Amino acid sequence: AFKPRNIIVTGGCGFIGSNFVRWVAANHPECHVTVLDKLTYAGNPENIAGLPASQVELVVGDVCDAGLLDRLVPGHDAIVHYAAESHNDNSIADPEPFVQTNVVGTYRLLQAARKYDVRYHHVSTDEVYGDLALGEPRRFEPDDPYRPSSPYSSTKASSDLLVRAWHRTYGVRATISNCSNNYGPYQHVEKFIPRQVTNVLCGIRPKLYGTGENVRDWIHTEDHSRAVWDILTRGRIGETYLIGANGERSNIDVLREILRQMGRPEDDFDWVRDRPGHDRRYAIDPTKLERELGWEPLHTDFREGLAQTIEWYRDHEGWWRPAKEATEAKYAAQGR
Ligand code: NAD
Ligand code: DAU
Repeated sequence: AFKPRNIIVTGGCGFIGSNFVRWVAANHPECHVTVLDKLTYAGNPENIAGLPASQVELVVGDVCDAGLLDRLVPGHDAIVHYAAESHNDNSIADPEPFVQTNVVGTYRLLQAARKYDVRYHHVSTDEVYGDLALGEPRRFEPDDPYRPSSPYSSTKASSDLLVRAWHRTYGVRATISNCSNNYGPYQHVEKFIPRQVTNVLCGIRPKLYGTGENVRDWIHTEDHSRAVWDILTRGRIGETYLIGANGERSNIDVLREILRQMGRPEDDFDWVRDRPGHDRRYAIDPTKLERELGWEPLHTDFREGLAQTIEWYRDHEGWWRPAKEATEAKYAAQGR
């Protein structure tokens, strides 16, 4: 097994990257983490505050900055690449930063991994596979064709393809993981679950897109972090692993569960304009990850995980409040 001692985590101040950084700090004190993060609207250094300074260091910078990578990468033994523009609705309104960060940024990191012979793990999404029909028995598998629908998912798909090519052509020691929808604490209020929870806390009616029948496959972000560590340390080089926790639920079911847990009537929400190109259903078959690496999800009770997440937002108003108004203004401008 590969034993990482000194890793770079890009996007380590975002929702999922910061969960990974906290998870490594708690479970692998032998591993030093350099967080490389541009601190966009989605990055918040509070997400990694309080971790031992001897183990976690924050470098504020852009993954597209080749000069910075030349200074930073030597001496590290792995790059775990989380940094991205991550929100579909934003990508529809303005795709430019998605092409820059997700495509050009990945290219620059791959070039650095190649130049300094560093192990590279690429964090990606199930959305690269497009969508499934509601009720169809099939789930996504690693070798399925790429059929991304949105500007966001097409830039993530592009970045995955660069990784595959850099592995095959230049021998970069790379792995890719494609994970389903994450939930948990520290998720930005633009995303579905935190948006509705904080709407209720603010006295705003939750907003449901389209018919509400779209299905997402929910996984707790801590289960995602553990899977990424397993793949980084024991995954086969050149392989793609799908990460999912058998968590399929329709949006309307999730919203009704939030309303129920927060003591609101189940119809106390607004139907709003659908997202253009809205993917119908995502579903992950995690068999390869389970069989090869023995990974399995620990957070298997979605209601319980959701209750803890709602509790976290109740207790951390100071964390989400500063972003709430601007986020809702962006949505209002799109009629959502
Ligand atoms: P996020 O938007 O919460 O965080 C992104 C982080 O990247 C922020 O800290 C931001 O400051 C940083 N960043 C953005 N552009 C940068 C740049 N050019 N240089 C350096 N740092 C930059 O995103 P997230 O939801 O935590 O997602 C993290 C990764 O996981 C992404 O690659 C995303 O595609 C992938 N992913 C997300 C989900 C999900 O459900 N949210 C599921 C599967 C995969
Ligand atoms: O599948 C993994 C992907 O999950 C990640 O790659 C993305 O980074 C992440 O943002 C997420 O994408 P989605 O588009 O599925 O997540 P989002 O939270 O934006 O929306 C979840 C579902 O809820 C989707 O069907 C749209 C719907 N929705 C969303 C919002 C914000 C609503 O009905 N109302 C809303 O207000």
